[in-house]
Amino acid sequence: MAKILIATVKPFSAEAVAEVKRVLEDAKHEVTVLEKYPDQAALIKAVADADALIIRSDIVDREVLAAARNLKIVVRAGAGYDNVDLDAATGKGVVVMNTPGQNSNAVAELAFGMMVFLNRNKLTPATGTELRGKKLGIHAYGAVGRIVALIGKGFGMKVYAFDPYIDRIIIENDGVVCEEGVESLYSKCQYISLHLPSDKDTKGSVNFDLLRRMPEGATLVNTARKEVIDEEGLLKMFRERKDFRYLSDIAPDCKEELETSFGERCFFTPKKMGAQTAEANRNAGIAAARQIVNFLERGDTTFKVN
Ligand code: 3PG
Repeated sequence: MAKILIATVKPFSAEAVAEVKRVLEDAKHEVTVLEKYPDQAALIKAVADADALIIRSDIVDREVLAAARNLKIVVRAGAGYDNVDLDAATGKGVVVMNTPGQNSNAVAELAFGMMVFLNRNKLTPATGTELRGKKLGIHAYGAVGRIVALIGKGFGMKVYAFDPYIDRIIIENDGVVCEEGVESLYSKCQYISLHLPSDKDTKGSVNFDLLRRMPEGATLVNTARKEVIDEEGLLKMFRERKDFRYLSDIAPDCKEELETSFGERCFFTPKKMGAQTAEANRNAGIAAARQIVNFLERGDTTFKVN
């Protein structure tokens, strides 16, 4: 029997938690749930005797890992694992996994929810615009990017994608135009949807030089991470291009300035909520639980990221 801690500042639905617990308890593990905890100290205390940890965007840094004397595995129930110190985990022999694809549909649907919301003037009766016939550029064609592409086609958009790590045949087989360079993607598309992870190569990479290439009606949609945006460049773009709009599920650091000066051209969710659906909670949570059971029972390291 192992001790499993589910630590989520932003909790899964109660139904998802019950199902996640069932998977773990059926495998004879003991489960503790720590939700909406007030600070890192609470996580550090709770993790002390845990063998396995399930998290969302919760921060698992060197301090948390040092406090977790028995920890063998951390599963990030979701896609991005920039919230986990991989080097520190590897140094302690702790396996880190994510659950790729499990919450992608929820994130992709939110991207379109935000696009329609802004195109219809935040659901006011002023005359708006449509997505049909516009060009949509997918910046990084992973699990979320791919669903955004397919939904975009449903809206009647012309869909393009750039991803240097994905074979062009995969993109083309989805009926999506594969762009060789990121500059040409931005030059062609009025709508750019970001699906990049946040890492040393991508941080600040969506900058003024890329954004200025976008055609009239330029709209940037960010359901990825705020860190991939160069905020100086973002502000410059707002100042220089009266047509530019920005939608994000992660408020930028310059949120107040943007909302004060360019409020009608931007929208930020009050709290990151792309993956916050009943289905995504359930899919990601149960996948995390199963991965832990398989790892503890037979050393299965599928989805290991460190
Ligand atoms: C992810 O990386 O899976 C998404 O950004 C969702 O994050 P969340 O689980 O913190 O909502």
